[in-house]
Amino acid sequence: MKHRIITIDGPAGAGKTTISNLLARQLGCVYVDTGALYRGVAYEIKQQQVDWENDECLGGFLKDLDLNFVMEKGNLVLISSKKDITSYIRTPEITMLASATSARPRVRSALLDIQRTIAQSQDAVFEGRDMGTVVFPDAQFKFFLFADLSVRAKRRFEEMAEEQKDIQKVQRDMEKRDTNDSQRKEAPLKAAIDAIKIDSSYLTIPEVVAKILKNIQKS
Ligand code: DC
Repeated sequence: MKHRIITIDGPAGAGKTTISNLLARQLGCVYVDTGALYRGVAYEIKQQQVDWENDECLGGFLKDLDLNFVMEKGNLVLISSKKDITSYIRTPEITMLASATSARPRVRSALLDIQRTIAQSQDAVFEGRDMGTVVFPDAQFKFFLFADLSVRAKRRFEEMAEEQKDIQKVQRDMEKRDTNDSQRKEAPLKAAIDAIKIDSSYLTIPEVVAKILKNIQKS
């Protein structure tokens, strides 16, 4: 049986994570934050000091990579070789390394299988950069969330821990990441032609969720 797949793509800070999570709860299905997988790869690359620009080293590392998600009390937990690494993957350093390493075709193809396997057994909301374009081109519902850079930087700044606060740096890093993610050759960040585009700059989270639900329910 084919499961219902909803894709939500867009740049960092557009509200994808919160919105996808709320949407999945309302629809009673799972939510998959694919950015966490790319962050998990970056975390392990750093830990194991992998020469990721060298395809042979990268290939060897990816062959032994054992990443997956488990759901705990409604929250996604990222497991790498039986270890919970969820709390280590959101640092600014891992964020930038995830953006750089995600441009490597070998990284993308290793994670493609993990994502499609999850979709085989359940209905799900998948959040990322290439969900509607590459990973699930046949998804029933596709959305692309975006917002002004300054609004996105402010949102991210407000979520950050006190000691990391520097809004200018947050905005610079975000802009660099937008450029990396949308200009890479392999599966760049872009809206699928059949995605519904939503500008979240001046909408609240419940307003965006309501817009998405309305689109799902009317079809
Ligand atoms: O969604 P996020 O900010 O946690 O993602 C971290 C990085 O991972 C992002 O800068 C690019 C990469 N990524 C990707 O290339 N494809 C995805 N589907 C999700 C994330």
